[in-house]
Parts: sequence; C-alpha cells; structure tokens
Amino acid sequence: MPGMEVFGAEERKEVMDVLETKALFRYGHEHIRKGMWKTAEFEAEVCRQTGAKHAHAVSSGTAAVTSIMAAAGVGHGDEVIVPPYTFVAPIEAVVLAGALPIFAEIDETLCLSPEGIEAAITQNTKAVLVIHMCGAPANLEGIVKVCKKHNLVLLEDCGQAMGAKYKGKSVGLHGVAGAFSFDYFKITTCGEGGVTITNSKQIYKNIDQVSDHGHTHEGDNRGMEDHLVMGANFRLGEMNAAIGLAQMRKLPWILGQNRKNKKYIKDRLKEIDGLTFRKMDDESGDSATYLNLFVPSKAIAENLFNQFAKDGVGGVANWYTNMYHFINQWNHIRSMKYPSRLAIHDLEAPQDYNNLNLPKSEDVISRLISIGIQCTWTEEELVGYADKIISSIKKVL
Ligand SMILES: Cc1ncc(COP(=O)(O)O)c(C=O)c1O
Repeated sequence: MPGMEVFGAEERKEVMDVLETKALFRYGHEHIRKGMWKTAEFEAEVCRQTGAKHAHAVSSGTAAVTSIMAAAGVGHGDEVIVPPYTFVAPIEAVVLAGALPIFAEIDETLCLSPEGIEAAITQNTKAVLVIHMCGAPANLEGIVKVCKKHNLVLLEDCGQAMGAKYKGKSVGLHGVAGAFSFDYFKITTCGEGGVTITNSKQIYKNIDQVSDHGHTHEGDNRGMEDHLVMGANFRLGEMNAAIGLAQMRKLPWILGQNRKNKKYIKDRLKEIDGLTFRKMDDESGDSATYLNLFVPSKAIAENLFNQFAKDGVGGVANWYTNMYHFINQWNHIRSMKYPSRLAIHDLEAPQDYNNLNLPKSEDVISRLISIGIQCTWTEEELVGYADKIISSIKKVL
C-alpha cells in the first residue's frame, strides 16, 4: 500500500487549502477559490509525470474504465477481450456498458498475451482491454501489433500501475486511452478516485463530457453550458483531488524505494532453485509494487502460502485461492448475476463463462505467489523480511 504508507503533512496541507476556501466542487466558484483548482492541478501533475497530453480525473478507477470505453465508442454488443486474472472492476465496467467480455489467455507477464488475444478474436471483436496487473506492463509491443493487424481499439486499465512505463512510455498511452485507480490501496491514492489519460484531444473531450452529464465545460456559466452527449456523474471532488495531488508529487520517491527494495529481495531469492519470476519485457518500467514468483506446482504454491501464514509472514498473496482476482472465484460474474436485466442477458453471450477453457492462465495463476513491496521499509526491516521469506520458502521447496 505505498500511497497510504507515505500519507502525511503534505496531503493534510492540500486538503486544508480546500477546506479553508470551501470550494469543494471542481468547476466554477472563482470568487471563493483564492486561485486554487486542486483537480486541475492534479491532472496537470499526472500529465507532467506520465507525459500524456491530456488527463481527466474521475471518481474511481471503475469510473475511469467506464469513461474511456464510452469515449472510444465501445459499448452495446461489442466484444471486448479481457483477462481472467484482474480485479473484477473492469469486467463489470464492460458488462454494464452493454458490451460482451471475451476471456483470453494470459501468460507469465500476468497480463493478456498477444497469442491469447489473437486466438480470441471473432468478427464481432471491437476492443482489447489490457490490464497491467501488479504494477508492471503487459507485452505492449506484441499487443499493439495484434490490435493494429485486426483493427481493434486498444484500451489500457492501468488501475494498479501508476508510474509504470513500457520502453520509456507510460502505460495508458500505448492505445486509445488509459484508466488509473486512486483508491485506498493503490501506489498513489485519493482515498477514492481515478484518472484517465490520452494523447487524443477528441477522446479527452469525450471523457470530459461523459463523466459529467455531457457538460462541455466551455464558458463560465455551468447552468447554460451546451450538452452534446449524455453522461453520468463521475466527477472527482476537490478534497480527494487535493490528496491525489500531494501523492503524485511523492510518486518518484515511492517508485525509487519500491524498485530498490524489490531488487534487494529478488536478488536474494535468485539463489533458490525452483523459483522463477514474472516475465517482463522491460523491467526498468515496473512500478515494483509486487515481486511475483512462480513455484513448480499449484500444490507447492498452496503449501508455501500456508507456510508464510504459519511463520507470520504478511503481505503475500496466492491469487488462485485467496484474493478474488482470478475467474475461478467469480461465480457471480460467470453467471452474470445482476439485480436488473442487462444487455448480456438478451444478447447471445460469446462464451460459456461457466465452462471456459483457459489452461495457460490456470497454470500461471495457480503457481503464482506475490509478495507486496513496501516503500517505507528501513534497511533492517528489508533484510529481516527477506530473511523470513527465504526461511519459509526453504521449508517448502
Ligand atoms: C486493475 C484494476 N482496475 C480497476 C480497479 C477499480 O478501481 P476503483 O476501486 O478505484 O474503482 C481496480 C481496483 O482495485 C483494479 O485493480
């Protein structure tokens, strides 16, 4: 939880600025603001650090995914290729938009693979929603190539990957648009919040409008603004944006610490036979929030996870069984349960979600153990944590 690890005086100061002016809304109210526009400043900081031409903040990572999909024209009846390993939010966003998820294979990058995408394409496929899991990018070069070849819209869910880059370019800028989460658990947090980035002015305008009831945000009279399209309320409040602004300013430090701490633990684990690591095309772009290990079998992964628990080692995940991030744990999604009728209930589902055949993803996730990296570890804590992990691993391998 790096963002919350460094939450302190800077976040309080930014929030107090907002409280003192009482300008809690991101638009208008110039007469009370004293020149403070926290959401706009937050967006400018996101642009500065990601290199994006445009950033637009919204109320959550889920709202960010929903907004970029709508902005890119992905909706009713469109097939969208997604991974079976992710937090559920982007899958919900696809279904609630009226689109149809197609689950494709991931590989040892922990993200959709180009081959997995290619195998899942049908004549109805409109988009690929790649999800950069655990802070590191997918094989974007291969994925961009497949999308170009088949004329597919590439959208990036970078919910867990603020600060990550692929071959020098921020995640979120390799396709049409990217969506980030700033919820409580992320590398940089607003408490609750999200942000979208894109290099396309038109996509930015679409996001700006669909996330605020279609308002064009032109002129100085909100009540009289034009509305070219419908939208919803995914606005970020100034208080949450103020926290995000302070957090973004800390991102370079967080990334530096994460990368140093992760490298230390990884170098020590390299000595152990039987362990391999997550595949990355460009390890320098990893935001290093997790060190991801593969053990030889599902049974060993379960034993190791239990051993960590016995030995009091915290901050580890076995996603296959305990963290609700793999499709085997999503009964409600596989059966598309929702209180009201959705497009997917009326349209023909492109896959039998209860009987998917994803052997590669099963194999990868069943052998995966993820170790959370903290940016605030002291040297002593870091060494002590590595010692404990190694001791547990040696008992099992
Ligand atoms: C990959 C991914 N996308 C989207 C989200 C949704 O973000 P939020 O909780 O801000 O709606 C999350 C949250 O964990 C996530 O991990």
